[in-house]
Amino acid sequence: MIKTSVKSIDVLKHKTDCLVLFSPENKPAGLLKQVDGLLNGALTAAFKSKRFEGKLNQSYEQSVRGLMGANSIIVVGLGKSKDVKEEQIRQASGTAAKAAEKLRHHKIALFLDEKDAGKPGKSNSAKLGSPVAEALMEGAQLGLYHFDPYKSVDKDNPPSRIQEITIIAPSKSRVTEYQKGVDYARKLCEAVIATRDLMHHPSNTATPTYLAKAAQAMARKHKITCKILEKRDMEKLKMGSLLGVAKGSHEPPKFIVMEYKGGKAKDKPVVIVGKGITFDTGGISLKPGAGMDEMKFDMSGGAVTIGTLQAAASLKLKVNVVGIVPATENMPGGSALKPGDIITASNGKTIEVLNTDAEGRLILADALVYAQRYKPKALIDLATLTGAVIMALGHQAAAAIGTDAKLIQKLIASGDATGERLWELPLYEEFEKATKSDIADLKNITSKGVGAGTITGAAFLKPFAGDFPWVHLDIAGTAWTSNEKPYVPRGGSAYGVRLLIDYLKNL
Ligand code: BES
Ligand code: ZN
Ligand code: ZN
Repeated sequence: MIKTSVKSIDVLKHKTDCLVLFSPENKPAGLLKQVDGLLNGALTAAFKSKRFEGKLNQSYEQSVRGLMGANSIIVVGLGKSKDVKEEQIRQASGTAAKAAEKLRHHKIALFLDEKDAGKPGKSNSAKLGSPVAEALMEGAQLGLYHFDPYKSVDKDNPPSRIQEITIIAPSKSRVTEYQKGVDYARKLCEAVIATRDLMHHPSNTATPTYLAKAAQAMARKHKITCKILEKRDMEKLKMGSLLGVAKGSHEPPKFIVMEYKGGKAKDKPVVIVGKGITFDTGGISLKPGAGMDEMKFDMSGGAVTIGTLQAAASLKLKVNVVGIVPATENMPGGSALKPGDIITASNGKTIEVLNTDAEGRLILADALVYAQRYKPKALIDLATLTGAVIMALGHQAAAAIGTDAKLIQKLIASGDATGERLWELPLYEEFEKATKSDIADLKNITSKGVGAGTITGAAFLKPFAGDFPWVHLDIAGTAWTSNEKPYVPRGGSAYGVRLLIDYLKNL
């Protein structure tokens, strides 16, 4: 994590490598007008020539050595001032931090005049500390994420990295509130970053065993309980569906169970289940070679589950949360599942495996059955389950499909607040019928012509969730990105951690 601080100082006199200011889509006013004056009208000229108009994520850079305390400034656009909420602040802050790093600055100081923002924080009354400070810090920390443990260091030309981020509070009296917002963001970002790291490790590092060890290390550090079920435990529990997928791999499967107790002893927990396929080759229904490397991200749901428990514990949320991660590889091989095989899940339901590449639902089936022992007040699973969700929603939102309208509504609201958006798809009865097999209880893919691949995936899962309020989030389109976003560099996004923490916090 990058060093952070909050200061209440004169913005124009503050000595730093790079001062970051934010501008809405109107001509320079307030502090920006003062800056414009110091720069002989450079900002006004930029507006006139349309070189910079304050559009969201547009940026203006200039050296200001001698004119202000800082060596240079970056002004980033916020868009229309009435539309500025946390998401716009996070984006603008991420854009600014990355631009400053590219310019080889090491220390940055950020100041956002709250008059230029709409009503951030209003959407979320349970916020701890200043929502503006929190959003600024989140955007910068997450935008500056790098994953480079496998890269040799070029001693002659080391990459230039931001080393310190200062958030400038508008007055002395608001430093505490700003510091609270920054502290909150730090803890949340730490968990998001740990999640992204887990996701980025290649599958020859991030095996099921590695995931289990990472969960245990996290649990020790944050004083929560973590238990790992081994293959023999899964056999005792008759988890034939998960074990079926694991059969083709030489890596032993692991079943990770984490418990965080921040609520009252008798409070029913929220149970989060995350797909932990550490590599998805498709199995005997082998995937095409092109792009198969991306299937190291098929444990994103699992990583997000571990990260969410970390964040919940480190933020000391007053709720009980259980995280469950069934972890295995999906490999072809002499002992792998074959199309047509029939396996039996831990609730006794038989499954005809018509496509070994639809393995996510198979491992989730046993995990959802296990989750029922907690009598969850909400059961949420996250999985990179179907390519079809990318057809439906691209990379802009995850699909939410489930049995509890209130739960779904709450999650959608948290998605809007955090920028980790969700869109609901309908779980019509016809789709559930389509998952019935001719010779077993269920089949893991539906016949051609049914369509709605994302929904039929969820329909398959439903019988394993019992009667508990359940929602399935298909994160195949949002878990990683090849087109970077302002505060999500290329690669794993850890989509879901911030969303779930917002949901848990509001309970
Ligand atoms: N892990 C994949 C889903 C996936 C595909 C995630 C592309 C991200 C990008 C999943 O296990 C899978 O292979 N699903 C199949 C299901 C099909 C066989 C019913 C798919 O989407 O093609
Ligand atoms: Zn698959
Ligand atoms: Zn998969």
